[in-house]
Amino acid sequence: MKNLKYYFEKAKKEKFAIGQFNFSTFEQVKGIVQAAKNLNSPVILGTSEGESKFVGLPEAVAMRNVLRKKYNVPVFLNLDHGKSFEAVKEAIDAGYDMVCFDGSKLPLEDLPAMPAHAGQAGNIKISKKVVSYAKWRGVLVEGEVGRFGTDASKIYQEEFKITEEFLTKPEEAKIYFAKTKVDVLAISIGNFHGMNVMGSVPRLDLVRFEEISNLLNIPFVLHGGSGTLDTDIRSAINFGVVKININTEIRLAFTNSLKKQLETNPDEITPYKYLQEPINEVQKIIEEKIKLFGSENKI
Ligand code: 13P
Repeated sequence: MKNLKYYFEKAKKEKFAIGQFNFSTFEQVKGIVQAAKNLNSPVILGTSEGESKFVGLPEAVAMRNVLRKKYNVPVFLNLDHGKSFEAVKEAIDAGYDMVCFDGSKLPLEDLPAMPAHAGQAGNIKISKKVVSYAKWRGVLVEGEVGRFGTDASKIYQEEFKITEEFLTKPEEAKIYFAKTKVDVLAISIGNFHGMNVMGSVPRLDLVRFEEISNLLNIPFVLHGGSGTLDTDIRSAINFGVVKININTEIRLAFTNSLKKQLETNPDEITPYKYLQEPINEVQKIIEEKIKLFGSENKI
């Protein structure tokens, strides 16, 4: 089976994106992989910090292995937003295919050893350490420059509104990429985690993204894919996005369907009966995203 690097290169050349679909239950994984099989598409399973803790890193690796073998489709596993070298190292050691190091809250470069910030290591320094640990183990690294917002829906724990200063600055992205040599780079161009901030649909700053992609011809990652307009998604892929992360829409599809099952069949106690419909709903969403991202028949 071809590796993830091969698929990122193919995606960049042929202008499509691979979905990273986050999960916290085996049922969600089943829906995701079934969709990939039906549409002949590579997929990336993602676990955030909370999801990793709940599922367990070795358990996530075991699920990937078992379903990759059973369905014979390229299923990969990415650690979403590892906030420290130790967190990403744990995922690499467990057998993840890729890790996202999220140093976006750190200064780009190290801060001097002054009392106020005690020589804090910057995003670049830790990213370099992650890359050197990951590379010779054959694991890919995603870096981040700029911060993403988080919506007010309570799906994510904290709300964070984005202002201009948190968007990716083209020059900083260039410096970061040149110094760290990460495999793919996540950018902040108005995208945010969740579906809606104060009732507004997320719109991508495509002018900024064009500026970044003119400066840097590399594979990019778009976080916060839920609720983003199809037209913005297609333009982002055109400017070099090869991976798009989706979480909220999967959580909503799964949870709403499960609630409905339990409400309409209050006496049902057999999990394999009331969980089939939520699996189908997840599969439906993933199939829509695979088609939108253009990764159908790209195996
Ligand atoms: P959404 O929840 O907005 O789809 O974002 C997912 C994500 O970016 C995970 O890193």
